[in-house]
Amino acid sequence: MFGVIDPGSASGIATNQVLHSEWAMPSSLKPGKETLRTQVGIIGGGPSGLLLSQILHRVGIETVVLERRSRAYVLGRIRAGVLEQGMVDLLQEAGVSGGMDRNGDPHEGIRIAYDGRRHRIDLKGLTGKTVMLYGQTELTRDLYEARDAMGGVILHEVENVAIHGISDDTPALTWCAGGESYRLECEFIIGCDGFHGVSRRSIPPEGLREYERVYPFGWLGVLSRTRPVNDELIYANHPRGFALCSMRSPALSRYYVQCSLDDRVKDWPDERFWGELKARLPEEVAARLETGPSIEKSIAPLRSFVVEPLRHGRLFLAGDAAHIVPPTGAKGLNLAASDIRYLSSALIAYYRHGSDAGLERYSEQALARVWKAERFSWWMTGLLHRFPETGEFGDRMQRAELDYLFSSTAAMTSLAENYVGLPY
Ligand code: APR
Ligand code: PHB
Repeated sequence: MFGVIDPGSASGIATNQVLHSEWAMPSSLKPGKETLRTQVGIIGGGPSGLLLSQILHRVGIETVVLERRSRAYVLGRIRAGVLEQGMVDLLQEAGVSGGMDRNGDPHEGIRIAYDGRRHRIDLKGLTGKTVMLYGQTELTRDLYEARDAMGGVILHEVENVAIHGISDDTPALTWCAGGESYRLECEFIIGCDGFHGVSRRSIPPEGLREYERVYPFGWLGVLSRTRPVNDELIYANHPRGFALCSMRSPALSRYYVQCSLDDRVKDWPDERFWGELKARLPEEVAARLETGPSIEKSIAPLRSFVVEPLRHGRLFLAGDAAHIVPPTGAKGLNLAASDIRYLSSALIAYYRHGSDAGLERYSEQALARVWKAERFSWWMTGLLHRFPETGEFGDRMQRAELDYLFSSTAAMTSLAENYVGLPY
């Protein structure tokens, strides 16, 4: 067992302070003087880091989460919310499904609009499984509340997080807070710090292999306090570009249109957005679209990205720190949970049975599922967006792919089984 853990401290940091959530450095802790210790140091207080911390804490493994932003900032991010059954199960196992069980919305199908018609993909009928509509913002809030309830340690607004000793078995994290510097020694470091985090950048380039595809367009997303236009998601392929009709609740809608990467939010006043969305939807859908002022509007680039391997000595990467998918397949959050499922069981096996077999296998196991979701997300993006550079032949190929999809149960089943989530 990791020598100096203070079993009395609710937090798992060996100091003479019992710590509380929204933890600020205890004044008695002499910056730079005392070294903090824990078992698993986690960088990033997004869904990956929080979920891992929750699962490990529930089995008595101590963690500390370092997050560079404030909690309000993290909770202010608007992100997708389509959960695979596997993720729903993991949240229930981790004891953080209360909000989802109360307010989540199970969906048995999705629609694909094309050539003025809507085609239904019967997820439940074709696979026996459904997906759960529950916003990532709400989920992240639930995770923070669960961490607080257990006295989990999450340090917000930390600066200059740096990683040390991952290749010589003395992993440690250093950071600054309030102008003071701190050091945390741990047994493992988990990089859950997203695409722009420090973890992946801390790995020597010769130890990494990166794969990337950047798409020549973005998604302009709008959140509005309006009644969703449909009870199931509508993915639309239209000569003017892709569009998506999604929702957060019966009174909160989320819509997206494909836009140029040169566009700025200011180029898209609400009426232009609603006009363009209506133009890309089948007439009967456009006719019943309720419009209103946007309460959030942002443009996101589309990228497929994977880094290999996911382990470097005592450092493990998970979630967006390791891979990005274009949002067309709704896989981003689910892949983060998939990594955390594999990594948490590997760490639990290590602490319970001294076995590092799972840790050895983590990268290969997690990447096998990541690549399948990357393929599906790339394929959905290719199927539903306008790619000016592919020309007329490309358009005809896309048309043939859609015609085949809607005429083949096998093809629809393939889409459905990927959408609801492939086995772990
Ligand atoms: N030090 C501390 N924290 C950091 C650092 C750093 N150097 N760099 C980034 N972070 C924090 C970010 O502020 C963010 O809160 O790491 C967190 C990473 O969270 P996410 O980007 O949400 O990544 P992840 O937890 O893996 O969740 C993946 O998020 O983007 C969506 O589609 C994606 O749904 C998927 C999910
Ligand atoms: C969303 O609700 O924001 C959403 C849903 C499905 C996607 C992407 C985003 O594929």
